[in-house]
Amino acid sequence: MKTQHPISQNLPGHRVRAVIAGTGSYLPARVMSNDDFTKIVDTSDEWIRTRTGIRERRIAAPGEATSDLAAKAGERALQAAGLNATDLDLIIVATVTPDHLLPSTACLVQRALGAERAFCFDMEAACSGFIYASEVARCFLENGAVRHALVIGAEKMSSIVDWTDRQTCVLFGDGAGAVIWTRAEDGRGLLATAMGSDGRLADLLVVPAGGSRKPASAETVAAREHAIRMSGREVFRHAVVNMAQAARDAIEKAGCTLADITWVIPHQANQRIIEAIAERLELPIGRFYLNLERTGNMSGASIPVALDEAVRGGTIRPGDRILTVAFGSGLTWGASVIQL
Ligand code: UT7
Repeated sequence: MKTQHPISQNLPGHRVRAVIAGTGSYLPARVMSNDDFTKIVDTSDEWIRTRTGIRERRIAAPGEATSDLAAKAGERALQAAGLNATDLDLIIVATVTPDHLLPSTACLVQRALGAERAFCFDMEAACSGFIYASEVARCFLENGAVRHALVIGAEKMSSIVDWTDRQTCVLFGDGAGAVIWTRAEDGRGLLATAMGSDGRLADLLVVPAGGSRKPASAETVAAREHAIRMSGREVFRHAVVNMAQAARDAIEKAGCTLADITWVIPHQANQRIIEAIAERLELPIGRFYLNLERTGNMSGASIPVALDEAVRGGTIRPGDRILTVAFGSGLTWGASVIQL
């Protein structure tokens, strides 16, 4: 996002904060519609639309990996910020679909961008990953350790869905969104974040094999244990309760009220979840920016893609105060208040 303010203003009475200097996103070219799913599982466009709000999602090409999507989103964010890759001090990639178990996807993005000065690592907090990663970047920025941080949410969810499971395969999509965070002292910035986790509920949303618990074997592949298993109804219930609470906590921490929030950018998992949160917060659904109809659930990429679209489309403008809120496997959740 090209802001109206210079990147680093020094206005009296304001503390140093992490501010958004630019956003970018990238969606792969291939569109998969709900009707396409009727050819592979027992489902219908009507069921998917009414139960989730999703009409279509993007699917990466076979040779396209998460770091490819992430690097393209990162390039666009650099352009929007008017910065070069060599200006970056830190790259964090929030993902559950890394190119490899090692090295980190962030290091592959560093190589693709030529960001040779940056230190780089991945963040695994599932759908809450972008909020967690931005909060970590905020700490580095505010304590002066870094000046420019690139935070990317990037997912190739199509690489971990079970294409025979109608309860999950219709939900997810691929894509990447990026934000360049920098420092300023002018009242803008990441004002507050509230985060939480509950590992007791880890089994509700899990990819059982491929890690150290169940290393890949012919048996795990045959049992499709490298794909997502989700207890949808349970996750739904926890998502509504915890996202609404996280939103309230972040707003309180930021010292503002819901009335001060111009736009809410929620994790785009299910329109019914978002409507339930709007109801709990007593906010009109029109204040929520939605793109899941076109993208499906892109896990950690959902919020930064929606943010970039809203900024580029002119929906979100400099001066707006936005609330991001997410929920995912772990279980994890979080919300941030950002003054643009
Ligand atoms: O991003 C990470 C967090 N994840 C989420 O937030 C996902 C949270 N969960 C959800 O969004 C919803 O629970 C789902 C969209 C996954 C499912 O919606 P639901 O209203 O909870 O449906 P359900 O699982 O209770 O299933 C209702 C019926 C079942 O049939 P019976 O048992 O009532 O005969 C399912 O078998 O719908 C059936 N069903 C389908 N039918 C057609 C499940 N998936 C499909 C499908 N097409 N794709």
